[in-house]
Amino acid sequence: MSAPVGYAKNGRGEVAPRTVSILGATGSIGASTADLLRRRPDAYQVEALCSHRNADALARLAREFGARFAAVADPAAYRALKQGLSGSGIEAAAGADSVVEAAQRPADWVMAAIAGSTGLAPTLAAVERGGTVAVANKECLVCAGMLFMSRAAQAGTTVLPVDSEHNAVFQALAAGRREDVRRIMITASGGPFRTWSKEQIRAATVEQALRHPNWSMGPKVTIDSATLMNKGLELIEAHHLFAMDQSAIGILVHAQSIVHGLVEYIDGSVVALMGSPDMRTPIAHCLAWPERIEAPVKSLDLAEVGTLSFEAPDLERFPALKLAREALEAGNGAPTVLNAANEIAVAEFIDRRLGFAGIPALVEATLNEAVRRGAMHEPASVGDAIAIDHTARRLAQSLVPEIAAKTL
Ligand SMILES: NC(=O)c1ccc[n+]([C@@H]2O[C@H](COP(=O)([O-])OP(=O)(O)OC[C@H]3O[C@@H](n4cnc5c(N)ncnc54)[C@H](OP(=O)(O)O)[C@@H]3O)[C@@H](O)[C@H]2O)c1
Repeated sequence: MSAPVGYAKNGRGEVAPRTVSILGATGSIGASTADLLRRRPDAYQVEALCSHRNADALARLAREFGARFAAVADPAAYRALKQGLSGSGIEAAAGADSVVEAAQRPADWVMAAIAGSTGLAPTLAAVERGGTVAVANKECLVCAGMLFMSRAAQAGTTVLPVDSEHNAVFQALAAGRREDVRRIMITASGGPFRTWSKEQIRAATVEQALRHPNWSMGPKVTIDSATLMNKGLELIEAHHLFAMDQSAIGILVHAQSIVHGLVEYIDGSVVALMGSPDMRTPIAHCLAWPERIEAPVKSLDLAEVGTLSFEAPDLERFPALKLAREALEAGNGAPTVLNAANEIAVAEFIDRRLGFAGIPALVEATLNEAVRRGAMHEPASVGDAIAIDHTARRLAQSLVPEIAAKTL
């Protein structure tokens, strides 16, 4: 007999709570995951949690869930973490290696929700350990997708997509055979500037870009949604997760964020997955897969939504999407460079040293310069991916003044 949802059989054949770890526990995805775990305290045992430097929130979560191990990436946050955990018996650690250790601790299920390519080493460490890894950290797949998927296959790891669009495609793929799939489609809300002119977008402020119409998310992914780079990264993510050629992955702008992903089969049937825009739905799906657990999300009322609209993305106003498609086609490390340059560009924009139009412009200039210098190749190891990422970051950083002068 199979164990009830959230429970796993231990080595002695007894039913025990499923052990889970959250990488990036203090972020937006981490909070949604914690919210679901909180509702079923007897079904899940938290093994490890980690964050960058938010020691107080991490210590609170570790205490609340009775975690066994908590790590901050920033050694300067160690004292605060140690203090926050004093008397709890929870092991505290700090530094990049301890974040990797958090990923390697024995857990049945790991949520990989560190933002950015800094999540590469820990996410890959989780994937190499086996078990089930729910992947939110899309930059990791963009940066080293081939490596990621081959390591997962070698370790027999179940990779479950957290991104709502990929989670939707994953679910819609269950409706047929893989060889009968004609194409997949992911949707984009279009972000806050969907209806803005090119000139208005060029002058967009940080505050305007951070105001997403449908989703509440961390700052990096929110800015990526405004440039549509998020969809570009998701295109690359989908290519790796579903082993689909980029020409068979479509992108649809769908302002209501109700239909998240679609799969078209060779007989013309299109299976779409709908749901209210709330990340707790795909996270709950990953947490309970292949079963289901209840998630505290608003029931979808299509009569209330009224209209579902779809349009093709405008690559002229949102060039980031075109850059991502070209990088995917070029391969050989171009997605790694694209991602690194984008992370620099978003940080510079948030710090107001780059205009909004400077984000895709910096990414394009970095890609061109990396090609000119022959600084790109397909990453063969984590170290290799990190080296390409670091070179691209330095390159992007050096190009900031020139691009800022043109776009501020
Ligand atoms: N939010 C969403 O709705 C959403 C949807 C789909 C996909 N995603 C993807 O999910 C990932 C997380 O997004 P988010 O919105 O949750 O980001 P977020 O709110 O910015 O949270 C990021 C988390 O990662 C931690 N972190 C950052 N650097 C770290 C490091 N070097 N080592 C360990 N932990 C580190 C942060 O810790 P501190 O708190 O200490 O900084 C925080 O816990 C991203 O890849 C994003 O694209 C997010």
